[in-house]
This record gives sequence, C-alpha cells and structure tokens, in this order.
Amino acid sequence: MPIQNNVQAASGTAATTSAPPISVLFVCLGNICRSPMAEAVFKELTSSDPRLSTVDSAGTGAYHEGDGPDPRTMSTLEDNGIVDYDHAARKVQASDFSIFDYILAMDKDNLNDLQRIKSQVTKTGNGTTGKEMGKVVLFGDFGGKKGEQVGDPYYGARNGFEIAYEQMVRFSKGFIAQVLDQGGNNPSQAKD
Ligand code: 4NP
Repeated sequence: MPIQNNVQAASGTAATTSAPPISVLFVCLGNICRSPMAEAVFKELTSSDPRLSTVDSAGTGAYHEGDGPDPRTMSTLEDNGIVDYDHAARKVQASDFSIFDYILAMDKDNLNDLQRIKSQVTKTGNGTTGKEMGKVVLFGDFGGKKGEQVGDPYYGARNGFEIAYEQMVRFSKGFIAQVLDQGGNNPSQAKD
C-alpha cells in the first residue's frame, strides 16, 4: 500500500512563498541499503513539493560505486508501493557540502565521518563555491527520539529493512514538519 502522506504544505504562508527551496542529501556507508531507501521514501512523501530542490543520496564509502540499491531495499520499497525508484551508488564528495542545505546521516559513524569531511572541506575550500556549507545532522533527530540511529541492515535479515523503512517514513515526516513547514531552517536541529 502506498505511504499515506498526511503532511500538507502550508499553502499561502510565508514559509511556502518566500523561503528558497531546500536541497537534501541522505548518507549511509555503502549507499545501497539505507540512504537510497531514505531518498526514495522522502521523494515519495514530497513529490512536486516546491519547497524542495535536489534530493539525492550518497555513501561515505566507495565500495559499491555505480551499483544499484540492494534488492532487499528495492523489495521493501515495492512492498510499500514505491516502484519507480532508480539510483546508482556514489561516494560523498567535497562539493556536496556546498550543494546541499541538509546532509542527513543514518547513524553516528556516518555523522562523525561527515563532520570530519566537512571540517576538511572547510579548511581547504575544496569544491565549495563560497556558499554557506550544508548542515550535517543525524536523520533520526527528526523522528521524535533524539539520537535515534538507522541500524545497518546489510549483513542482517530482511526484517532489518522493514524496521529501517518505518524509521524513514517517521523521520521524513518529522523533517517535513520541523524544517519545511518552519520555512526551511530549524535552529534547534542545525548543529553544524
Ligand atoms: P548501507 O549498508 O550503508 O545502508 O548502504 C551497507 C552496504 C554495504 C556495506 C556496508 C553497509 N559493505 O560493507 O559493503
């Protein structure tokens, strides 16, 4: 059954009419299980939402560069009515920190890696355009339980993908409510 999107754009408010569109990058380790699932779910929930620009995903590792999502990610999405998702894995790059407003980590290892890469990019200026750098945040911070991580399901059973799917829906709805519905920025979430 397709996901129910109960989150409505607040049409006519300043949030929808004046804020520039937001770009979002979802990041895990391999970019074949969790972050593509997050990207697909988030796109499903926000399709045609003018408050968003680019939505993509990437990995902190390059192990699976060019590969499609794990078949268990695809079948979990399909079980939930998302049948048109397509993605080739890629590694996070320096320019992502200037392209994306929000860079959302699936777990604390991803978060630490992203913060380290961001501080290197900040020092060297490598790949940046002078634009303010994207905010690096744990995706689970938007789910109602601060610090909640999406466990890596790659070496586990299919059930791990179903748990991850439920988290992606919950976190995406939280992000929409706490960031998009607030006009594109929520200082309490934007630590970095
Ligand atoms: P992901 O899962 O980070 O959610 O894409 C993984 C996929 C592959 C590997 C690790 C995690 N790997 O080591 O190949």
